[in-house]
Amino acid sequence: MSFLTRRIAIDREVGHVEGHGLKPTLGWPHLVALGVGAIVGTGIYTLTGEAAGLAGPGAMLSFLIAGAVCAAAALCYAEMATLMPRAGSAYTYSYAVMGETVAWIVGWSLILEYTVVCAAVSVGWAGYAGALILGWWPDAPQALLKGPEAGGIVNLPAVVIALLVAGLLALGTRESARVNFVLVIVKLVALAGFIVLALPAFNAAHFTPFMPQGFWAHEVDGVKFGVMGAASIIFFAFYGFDAISTASEETKNPARDLTIGIVGSMLLCTLIYMAVAAAAIGAMAPAEFAKSPEPLSFIIRSLGHSQAAGLIALAAVIAMPTVIMVFMYGQTRVFFAMARDGLLPKGLARVHSRLGTPVAVTLFTGLIAAVLGGALPLSRIVSVANAGTLAAFIATALAMMILRMQQPARPRRFKTPLWWIVGPFAVLGCAYLFAGLSTFTMQVFVVWNLIGLGAYLVWFRTRSNLAKV
Ligand code: ALA
Repeated sequence: MSFLTRRIAIDREVGHVEGHGLKPTLGWPHLVALGVGAIVGTGIYTLTGEAAGLAGPGAMLSFLIAGAVCAAAALCYAEMATLMPRAGSAYTYSYAVMGETVAWIVGWSLILEYTVVCAAVSVGWAGYAGALILGWWPDAPQALLKGPEAGGIVNLPAVVIALLVAGLLALGTRESARVNFVLVIVKLVALAGFIVLALPAFNAAHFTPFMPQGFWAHEVDGVKFGVMGAASIIFFAFYGFDAISTASEETKNPARDLTIGIVGSMLLCTLIYMAVAAAAIGAMAPAEFAKSPEPLSFIIRSLGHSQAAGLIALAAVIAMPTVIMVFMYGQTRVFFAMARDGLLPKGLARVHSRLGTPVAVTLFTGLIAAVLGGALPLSRIVSVANAGTLAAFIATALAMMILRMQQPARPRRFKTPLWWIVGPFAVLGCAYLFAGLSTFTMQVFVVWNLIGLGAYLVWFRTRSNLAKV
């Protein structure tokens, strides 16, 4: 079979369900908690400042647009995840529906996404950790708290947290549902506290002009401004919901619980994000907090509540590492899935004999995330992570639509509602957000995929399991 058309079977996947036979014990409230736990992180805690700098008060619209596109993509994701509940997510769906070459590109993009997200959340975490460190130890060497582009030498806190999470994962630590629930509460209480403290300082004058950079994305000095430019960045704040679809096997009533879980957590996050953005902009003009590495604490501190600012930073520092954990774990799963199919060296799927975890791959991912996080500014990392994610979302929505047309009668545990509207909306929305990324990001994405495609054509194409059948 030509490498362009060979596919894995959908049913083969179903036969290999991980955790098959698990008791369906989860309802939609659990799924919403799971989703919010994986989603709320650097996006709202740090990128709110970045987005306000790009779009002004119109950043609130950016949240709304990115949230709507993500919700549509998430529904497509849920349909494919319940059809093929197996490691590898978008890579696996693409392999079954669109063939090996497309799957390779998607898998290669996912590698870019996951590792870079770990780096991005580490930098976001470091912004708050750095503020806490300076609060306790004012003479701390500043050059070790920020990367070269911000005038420092290395962002050491980002390096430390990326390696620490990798170490914990390698040792087999998985965050339990109960811990996740507590951390979700910590994150949300901190955001609610921020809103309550910022609201008394609300000044409606900060909202005019509403869109000082206009609506459409336009590039100035390598940065895309405007509401859509900010939406392409703030898109980062919404992903992580894969965590919900991977729990599909354990849901009591997938059709109902997954729809409510996914749409519910997206809706909840969108509302919370818009409220936080409104409170932030109301309390302080966007230009003043846009550049802060810890904008929420910065605003609250400027309003005279230093202790509360410290508590918000502490909440971020305690709760954000779970987001890194979700993505680092996801990364090892993508490596696994690709290596198992013969599309990456089999050694990448090797599990440590005593620890029972893929130690080498986990530490390697941690190391790359640490290097990127230690050296690069958040905006660049986020933008690259978004490019990989958008590509994967587009592939998943396309896979869902193609399969609906090819096999309409196939039994599905979860069906995307109004798929002929939701699917195209997800594809076009993601493509449009992709177009809102900077030229530099697109160049990185293209170069990354050219390298990947080269490696595939020269090496892995002939090593694929399907090349041997
Ligand atoms: N949505 C995740 C975050 O904002 C990636 O940290």
